[in-house]
Amino acid sequence: CAGGSDAGSGGTADDPYGLVEAGTLTVCSDIPYPPFEFEGGDNGTGYTGFDIDLLDAIAKKLDLKLSVQDVGFEALQSGTTLANGTCDLGASAMTITDERKKNIDFSDPYYDSLQSLLVRTDSGIKSIDDLDGKNVGVQQGTTGESYATENAKGAQLVQYPSDGELWPAIQAGQIDAILQDQPVNLEHEKADSAYKIVETYDTDESYGFAFEKGQKKELLDAVNGALKELRDSGDYQTIYDTYFTA
Ligand code: ARG
Repeated sequence: CAGGSDAGSGGTADDPYGLVEAGTLTVCSDIPYPPFEFEGGDNGTGYTGFDIDLLDAIAKKLDLKLSVQDVGFEALQSGTTLANGTCDLGASAMTITDERKKNIDFSDPYYDSLQSLLVRTDSGIKSIDDLDGKNVGVQQGTTGESYATENAKGAQLVQYPSDGELWPAIQAGQIDAILQDQPVNLEHEKADSAYKIVETYDTDESYGFAFEKGQKKELLDAVNGALKELRDSGDYQTIYDTYFTA
């Protein structure tokens, strides 16, 4: 069969996955989002974190080199970035939702998460019921934004493109609270005692790696296979313990 310019599903004998760059697993992420993806580490990508370490281990199982690109979350979660050939998959602490499944194929779940409310310790805010008239920061396009929209109706939601703007915004006093994934708010709580998590919400969320819809079956299956091997061997647990110790 003739190879077209359209990098669709399937690939060649050399590249069974139809990768953006042969020999490399090119991953799109939205950084910073500690402890899942942030700058640093020594794997050669310039980034580290739970997602990145897990993908590095998966890439090694597939005999691929890992490359990470920092792209915006909004276009990633809507499927746009995955469809335009920038990367082979998205790894961005992305919750598997029915809405996103319309445009994205997800891997098996690799992490379970909660939502949470982080406030300035001196704000007097004790729960989501105290947010009327308050400025509540959310990351645009996230499940935290949806949760705040539905459950903090009297609040003034302020959308930021990334946690890289959210966190400075609360420190500058521009917002009174941040509603987002609990592990990320926990990082901020640990970093600065002027902030604390006052509530967590069991939204039953699981993260998955994201693939262009209908186009990456071989790669998706290979990633799921590698993930299972890492769980069975205990390597998944070792990576987990690096970032989530009791
Ligand atoms: N889990 C949330 C969601 O899927 C937030 C993810 C944000 N991730 C990031 N790397 N900025 O909507």
